[in-house]
Amino acid sequence: MTTNIPPTQADDALSPETLTSTNASATTDATATSADNGTASEAGEHPHQRIRSFVIRAGRMTNAQTKALEELGPKYVLDVSDLQPLDVAAAFGREAPVVVEIGFGMGKSFIEMAQHDPLRNYLGIEVHPPGVGATLLLIEELGLTNVRLIKHDAFEVLTKCLGPESIDILQIFFPDPWPKARHHKRRLINPEFLALVTPLLKHGGEIRMATDWQEYAEQMLECLNNAPELSNTNPEGGYIPRPEWRPLTKFETRGERLGHGVWDLVFKRD
Ligand SMILES: C[S@@+](CC[C@H](N)C(=O)[O-])C[C@H]1O[C@@H](n2cnc3c(N)ncnc32)[C@H](O)[C@@H]1O
Repeated sequence: MTTNIPPTQADDALSPETLTSTNASATTDATATSADNGTASEAGEHPHQRIRSFVIRAGRMTNAQTKALEELGPKYVLDVSDLQPLDVAAAFGREAPVVVEIGFGMGKSFIEMAQHDPLRNYLGIEVHPPGVGATLLLIEELGLTNVRLIKHDAFEVLTKCLGPESIDILQIFFPDPWPKARHHKRRLINPEFLALVTPLLKHGGEIRMATDWQEYAEQMLECLNNAPELSNTNPEGGYIPRPEWRPLTKFETRGERLGHGVWDLVFKRD
């Protein structure tokens, strides 16, 4: 798959210093007190996700990202503040198969997929404001009409805004690995998460994951293997070779530089 995505000033906002596998522990450490003591996140309504999978980092927004949020946000970012069910087809202005990506980061690989797959609607969910700003710039630059974004906790969006059998493909690439044992509870992928998202997938729909953190990969595989209604697309079981349809992500590129392996998984809803 080729990429025509031009570099943007925004790229640098997702630097190894602001968001990395190994740095996840550093990021987490800075916030561990509130996470461990239980603050607003633990007061959440959902017993399964009382502890959030993310920390909003005080990352620097570039002027271009700030402007993009202000000016392009109303065009491409869906307002889900009321957490009411979302009419996805209406949001895109057409009926088409729906790909949902959780945690698209700075958006490069997400946008590259959408650019090369114009017959599907791409709905990206991310909480990191510079990432949303950067992705808006890419959407506008490439003139894409099949992308919408949501700047909100994906768990809430999935539980409240998306209906049963509304998603053709759900993808989560390089979710924060939360490497320290005491932070594993913050990992997005766990049995409760799969119980929540499986009914949202169409029958025959796919859930796609990748990580560069081996022990998290093993956790993902175990959860997926144990999830009712989900079957491995790899007839031999286990991980699949890097799929050609998945562009290299920013996070993955850094992991490669550090010599990390990458583990891909694709399961289907029966
Ligand atoms: C390690 S980064 C990976 C970004 C991108 N997928 C990549 O590979 O470069 C994980 C991303 O997931 C986002 N994230 C984590 N939990 C989330 C949630 N519950 N809802 C929305 N985004 C979330 C974080 O803000 C972060 O940008």
